[in-house]
Amino acid sequence: MSTVLTEIRGPVGLATLNRPDARNALSPEVFKELATALEAWDGDPEVRCIVIAGGDEWFAAGADIRDMASRGFQDMLDSPSTGFWPRMAAVRTPLIAAVSGYALGGGCELALACDMIVASERAEFGQPEILLGIIPGGGGTQRLARLLGKQRAMELVLTGRRITALEAEAMGLVNRVTKARDWLKESLDLAEVIARRPPLAVRLAKQAVLAADETTLAGGLSQERRLFELAMATEDRVEGMQAFIEKRKPEFRGR
Ligand code: CAA
Repeated sequence: MSTVLTEIRGPVGLATLNRPDARNALSPEVFKELATALEAWDGDPEVRCIVIAGGDEWFAAGADIRDMASRGFQDMLDSPSTGFWPRMAAVRTPLIAAVSGYALGGGCELALACDMIVASERAEFGQPEILLGIIPGGGGTQRLARLLGKQRAMELVLTGRRITALEAEAMGLVNRVTKARDWLKESLDLAEVIARRPPLAVRLAKQAVLAADETTLAGGLSQERRLFELAMATEDRVEGMQAFIEKRKPEFRGR
C-alpha cells in the first residue's frame, strides 16, 4: 500500500499522507513518494496547484521516530529526509497544506514548507522535537522565526508546546481556519481559484514572494522587477489585458 495517495482533481493535484497506524509519521517511504509525486506534478502543465493533506485526526505526527531511533549520524546524512526538503523547496507550483488534527515536528514543518496553510478548527501545531532530545530539522526553526518572529518561534521550539488552530491563526501561521468538516473542501476550493489564474504569472509570483525570505529589500525589489518583466513577455498577459479592455473573461493558455 502506498504511503502517499495521489489523485488529480481537475487542475489540482491532491497528495494524501496514508500511514494512519503511525499517525502519518514521515517515514523514508513517505519522503520518497511525496517528493516523486510533487516533482511529477510540477512537470505537468495540467497541474496548476497542489494540495498536501492528511486525515481528519492527524496531518502528520512528525518524522518517523522509530526510523530515526535506529539511525546514527552517518546514517542520518543518507536519510531520504535530508534530500526531501530541498526537493520540495524547488517545486514551482503553488503548494497548499490542508491540515486537520496534529501537525507536529516534521508534520508542522511540512505544512510550513507549503505556500499556504488551511487548517481545520481541530488542527494542532507544534515542534515537540526538544522533548526527544533533538531540534527541528526540516526548516522549523527558520520558517517559524521568519513567520512568527523570534520570540514566538523560540517559545514553541524550546518548550515543544502545541498550539490550536485559532492560536496559529492569531500568530499568522495559517491562512484560514475552517469548520471541522470543511478543511479539505476549502483547501481544494482555494487551490482551484489559484489554478484558474494564468500559470506562468502564478509561478513568477510565487518565486517573487519567496524571494522576500531570502534577500534584502533592495535585492528582493530588484528580483521582483525582473520577474514582473518576464510576466510582461507572456501571451497570457496580452490576453489578460485585452480581455479587460474588451470586458470579457480572459482565456489563459499558460504561454
Ligand atoms: N513516528 C513514529 N511513530 C509514531 C509517531 C512518529 N512521529 N507518532 C505516532 N506514532 C505511532 C506510535 O508509536 C503508535 O504506534 P503503535 O500503535 O505501534 O504503538 C501509533 O503511532 C499511535 O500513536 P499514539 O498511541 O501515541 O497516538 P495518540 O493518538 O495517542 O497520539 C500523537 C498522537 C499526539 C501525535 C502522539 O503519537 C505523538 O506525540 N507522536 C510523536 C510526535 C512527535 O514527537 N513528533 C516529532 C517527531 S521528530 C521530528 O519530526 C524531527 C524533524 O523535525 C525532522
